[in-house]
Amino acid sequence: MKRTNTCGELSKNDIKKSVELAGWMASRRDHGGIIFVDLRDRYGLTQVVLDPKHNKAAHKIAEHVSREDVLHIKGKVRARGKDLENPKLKTGEIEVIVDELEILNKAMTPPIEIDDNKEASEEVRMKYRYLDLRRPKMQKHLEFRAKVAQATREYFTDNNFIEITTPLLVKSTPEGARDYVVPSRVNPGKFYALPQSPQLYKQILMCSGMDRYFQLPICLRDEDLRADRQPEHTQIDVEMSFVDLEDLWTTFEGLYKHIWKKVLGKDLKTPFPRIPYKESMDKYGNDKPDIRYDLHLVNVNNIVKGSEFGVFNSIIEHGGLIKCVASPGELSRKELDEYITFAQELGAKGMAWMRVGKDGLESNIAKYFSDKIKKELVKATGAKEGQILMFVADKEKVTNAVLGRLRIKLADHFKIYDQEEFNFCWITEFPLFEWDDDNEKWEMAHHMFCMPKKEHIKFIESDPGKVICTQYDLVMNGWELGSGSIRNHSPEVQKTIMKSVGFDEKEAEERFGFLLEAFKYGAPPHGGIGIGFDRTVALMLHQTDIREVIAFPKNKSAECPMDGSPGKIDERQMKELHISTTTKK
Ligand code: AMO
Repeated sequence: MKRTNTCGELSKNDIKKSVELAGWMASRRDHGGIIFVDLRDRYGLTQVVLDPKHNKAAHKIAEHVSREDVLHIKGKVRARGKDLENPKLKTGEIEVIVDELEILNKAMTPPIEIDDNKEASEEVRMKYRYLDLRRPKMQKHLEFRAKVAQATREYFTDNNFIEITTPLLVKSTPEGARDYVVPSRVNPGKFYALPQSPQLYKQILMCSGMDRYFQLPICLRDEDLRADRQPEHTQIDVEMSFVDLEDLWTTFEGLYKHIWKKVLGKDLKTPFPRIPYKESMDKYGNDKPDIRYDLHLVNVNNIVKGSEFGVFNSIIEHGGLIKCVASPGELSRKELDEYITFAQELGAKGMAWMRVGKDGLESNIAKYFSDKIKKELVKATGAKEGQILMFVADKEKVTNAVLGRLRIKLADHFKIYDQEEFNFCWITEFPLFEWDDDNEKWEMAHHMFCMPKKEHIKFIESDPGKVICTQYDLVMNGWELGSGSIRNHSPEVQKTIMKSVGFDEKEAEERFGFLLEAFKYGAPPHGGIGIGFDRTVALMLHQTDIREVIAFPKNKSAECPMDGSPGKIDERQMKELHISTTTKK
């Protein structure tokens, strides 16, 4: 070994010990001939001292070391001088007086400061990811991620689950995104898909009698990227046989309880609240509500009906939805204008507002509403003097989407929640189908494999909009963390569902006939979940972008500036794979 200790280890107990350390040169200070070097590795920093009176040769070398050179030293631990201790550092009580210094490798001047307080631009961080990952913050993030993975494995293994690896070269998995595809050399003109999730394979594993499966698979989806979306993400993927919804929820609550205790040393309160989808849409405008704060949207269609405000009346006539949210505090005219612009940017035609004044609601539209309506609005929202009612009137989808975002913006603006809090909930009772306005037909709301509620199976053909299914989502602090369901293992029900959305039997056969075939040989009732592992880790660390917890993520254009992928392949390889491209050279 090139070292006896790490750079984060030595303390007063080691004084007088001869040690060898290795690491990167984090900083160098020349104090009247004596050189102080901070040596850094994953574990911390140790101050090493090069005194020409102690060792001339080592001091001479130290005159030429620069940032990020890789060094090896031999020396003796000693106490720091009086008042020179650094309580912020684990090794702050000691320093090492150097007998021998060797430069193991010189470094070019790094384009990134290896400093948590100095963040380079996104592109530079990505290009020099190996340097970015040297920053203590990033090292902690990856170490933390590994601990969460370990706690996950521990929980499932202790609970009799088997970790099973499913293949990477697969038949397309219908999760709703585009597939990444891989051409087959030995099967000209044929392609594998990379799995969007192991969905079909974990269901087949249930047919195989594996009973309890888990895996931390990488899932690949060609979709537009956002702060919580990467082309490659890791899931905690689980499937269980002979279970009902309560069994699933209790199992996954147990997982989070275990992770929180193990990794954060905190007790999580379970069970998590369960909120039906409809209630979530009504109260929060979306199906991933941040319930750390109690700010609700209020449906006011029935209250404002009969006012003289033409905009509202026309929306009601056309079957639209009018909702409002009360700002938690006062807003200046300028701030209010910013909210109006924000609502418009999100697709609303405008944002009407009224302020609660001493004598009731006031604004330039207040005159269109009778005193009775204004009183009812104040009562329904519970708003107090100074608060502002913000209204969006539009198609239901737009009203909910815009007000849902306004609610979050208001909560951030007025800081009405504890940023350290972790708040989970289950969203349940999802509809099985959703109406597609553009194509004027019913579509699956999620994937094909979800079992409708037993008592709703009879509505699949006669009244699809009425069918509630067993799908559920796990939500934390306004992020969708996971999604699962009890699966549909009945070929008859599956057929009726496919018929309702006009899903061609031939196409179904071609795309996932192998699963339907497997179901014919004794499929147990089963269900499971896919949980976003990157999202879980990012939220635990209070990060707003999952790239902060992924070693080698892609940028917003799905490229890796470090390795230059995606790249071209040469003509020979293209020929071998039987493919050609239409892009101009
Ligand atoms: P779903 O598609 O909802 O369900 O994905 C499950 C969870 O995976 C995470 N996730 C992502 N994280 C980062 N980047 C992405 N591009 C990305 N896409 C999804 C989310 C999401 O909630 N097979 C089903 C699960 C099941 O029914 O068992 C599935 O994959 O946190």
